[in-house]
Amino acid sequence: MNKIYLVGFMGCGKSAVGRQLSYALRLPFYDMDKEIVKQQGMSIPEIFEKYGEEHFRNLETEFLKNFRDEACIISTGGGAAMRQENREIMRRTGLVFFLDAPFEDIYKRIKNDANRPIAQRSTKKELERLYYYRRKFYKRAAHIRVFTRNRNIRQIVNYIVFQVNRLKGE
Ligand code: S3P
Repeated sequence: MNKIYLVGFMGCGKSAVGRQLSYALRLPFYDMDKEIVKQQGMSIPEIFEKYGEEHFRNLETEFLKNFRDEACIISTGGGAAMRQENREIMRRTGLVFFLDAPFEDIYKRIKNDANRPIAQRSTKKELERLYYYRRKFYKRAAHIRVFTRNRNIRQIVNYIVFQVNRLKGE
């Protein structure tokens, strides 16, 4: 096992959990969106605006294919687990955790975020539909599902650490 990937819908806590997990496991942490923004020298809304969503999706796949070969934690963008190719790369190169948060928690976190073009352009109903549509792909991508309802970040991190140690011993 090499990398640890966090997948799930926008606002499920992937980046916050990834940062804390990085301390707990003493592994470097990378936020895929931030890495793409750095590589491209453009914000995510700018990439969507200028080149379209499909281009951004290709950048995600390129990132997963080419990112450095080291043990690390990667929080993925909310759409990254939609492509079969991406799911295969993640499952092949690491352990994948799905942070499963209730829609209402997620909506509170993303509704006013100008840096998330999909949240910006969608109504609550549309986001809810997308949330339910995407769940099956997160489940398919993940080795382990983590329920986040009524759990704080520390509890979520402790649970992931427990699972990583358990699987390492296998
Ligand atoms: C997206 C989620 C975002 C970002 C982009 C598209 C999505 O990442 O990759 O705005 O399609 O769900 P977060 O999950 O970190 O918000």
